[in-house]
Amino acid sequence: MSALSKWLEAVVLRSVGPEKFARLEYRLKPHRRASWGGPMNGQVGRVRICRDILTTLSPTAIVETGTFRGTTTEFFAEFPMPVYSVEAEPRFHHFAAYRFRDLRDRVHLTLGDSRSFLNRLAADASMPKNNVFFYLDAHWNADLPLAEEITTIFANWQQAVIMIDDFAVPDDTYAYDDYGPGAALNAEYLDRLGRTDMYRFYPSLRAAEETGAKRGCVVLCNDPQVRDRLKALSSLRQVI
Ligand SMILES: C[S@@+](CC[C@H](N)C(=O)[O-])C[C@H]1O[C@@H](n2cnc3c(N)ncnc32)[C@H](O)[C@@H]1O
Repeated sequence: MSALSKWLEAVVLRSVGPEKFARLEYRLKPHRRASWGGPMNGQVGRVRICRDILTTLSPTAIVETGTFRGTTTEFFAEFPMPVYSVEAEPRFHHFAAYRFRDLRDRVHLTLGDSRSFLNRLAADASMPKNNVFFYLDAHWNADLPLAEEITTIFANWQQAVIMIDDFAVPDDTYAYDDYGPGAALNAEYLDRLGRTDMYRFYPSLRAAEETGAKRGCVVLCNDPQVRDRLKALSSLRQVI
């Protein structure tokens, strides 16, 4: 997008506000509904990992942090369980809210910070606390919510499975996020959490064979039975 178009969008956003702007954007720029080249950064191998996990474990709910425009949320909405997603930027939240306007009974979108959102879900008696799948993708800048997100999830949900996007895969060339000292999404970041109840899995598929943006991921769980079921999936490899 040219500098002039960006400036024009900023002017329109300021004058009409994020909700109206998002509706205009949704209708006038339909290609933006496929952000990052499709669900999970346009990565066919990653989509397969997710399908494998969701069909094997049949979680009671799916929780995403970092809705953005709802491209991956739409993939999650294909599955029969309720989907919860949070987005901090009003403009993106409203874009996704308009996108899922006919699915409000199953796709629950929240505008806010992922940390307070997860704490609210943890305190919500109507939210299942067992066998929930979490997709953590609310990393965007130096204010990295990831450690707090993982801690809240494992403190409040049993048999939870967490997939973290943009994560370094050991011995492979997948791309990952690095926000500076102590804030690279890699194994050392997880080590610093000091947990003994956390099992780690990475994609079996080599980055060279993956499609799309070739972003890495890690899959975590906190239950030995779930670990054994994930071990049986050929799309994942466990790293101890
Ligand atoms: C990489 S994008 C998410 C992409 C989306 N999951 C998808 O697959 O299409 C990251 C999003 O997280 C949002 N975000 C960043 N920090 C956040 C936070 N603390 N809480 C909620 N959302 C946050 C950003 O505004 C951005 O829209």
